[in-house]
Amino acid sequence: MAKGINLELVKSPEDLGLLRRAWEHERVAFVPTMGALHEGHLSLVRQAKGLADKVLVSIFVNPLQFGPQEDLAKYPRTLDDDLILLRAAGADAAFLPATSTFYPAGFQTYVNNREMSLGLCGKVRPGHFDGVLTVVLKLLNLVRPQVALFGKKDYQQWRLIETMVRDLSLPVAIIGASTVREQDGVAMSSRNRYLSPALRAKAALIYRGLIAAKAAYALGSRDPEQLKVAFREVLAKEPDFEIQYVEVVTQEELRTPEPGGSEALVMIIACFLGGVRLIDNLELGTSA
Ligand code: PAJ
Repeated sequence: MAKGINLELVKSPEDLGLLRRAWEHERVAFVPTMGALHEGHLSLVRQAKGLADKVLVSIFVNPLQFGPQEDLAKYPRTLDDDLILLRAAGADAAFLPATSTFYPAGFQTYVNNREMSLGLCGKVRPGHFDGVLTVVLKLLNLVRPQVALFGKKDYQQWRLIETMVRDLSLPVAIIGASTVREQDGVAMSSRNRYLSPALRAKAALIYRGLIAAKAAYALGSRDPEQLKVAFREVLAKEPDFEIQYVEVVTQEELRTPEPGGSEALVMIIACFLGGVRLIDNLELGTSA
């Protein structure tokens, strides 16, 4: 059979258990997603294929990670297109649970990070990362992969998952994959489709702002406040932007850097553009 034709569709946790037993002797790579797939997701699938015998992708819009005022109901759902893309990318199975079978009645147990989740996106989306960590732990328990891949596009999410895996001794390797960008630098995101063409064009300023901060860093600037000004100056030209936060933190623990320290830094931002919330980040390098 031609490569990429065999994509097994698994709908219930029980059927996933059966598939996993059939794959008992295979090395499995796992890519969790919420669907509305784009090149960013597919880059994870392709990377996963190089790391394992079998690649399993989950598509599940996880209600636990959406706040009451957030876009759960209107989150894009494009399952037919997603499955075509997964076949073409060479995934072996897609796990597509229904919310009712995934979270049984009476569900009441959550994973709660008490440190790294308190800043950045966690500060402005209370409870969001509890929802993410809970679904990811449950998915890891069901899939039992040897390796799981996450995008650095969601930098804090990736670091929190690494931390959970370390803290709870989960037997899985976590890989952080580079952010895939459009030609103009905009980080690919399922939410970009909410932008009008005019706003979509303006979104390119975010990456330009991050590049400006990285350039300031390359010229020797190490003061987070100065680096943030370099970012803000680029977006200030465009009144449609509302910056929710911009922070410079250490890459591993996402802490405020020590003055004169030598830890590698990352700039992480969230902003609203015409009411659409966009996040992005850029590793600035290692200060010396
Ligand atoms: P979702 O937003 O669908 O993203 C699924 C995975 O794709 C995440 O690891 C995310 O970081 C990665 N990704 C998204 N855009 C990317 C890009 N432009 N470049 C590289 N990787 C990208 O993140 C989630 O879903 C959920 O929180 C989930 C982890 C599935 C838990 O529900």
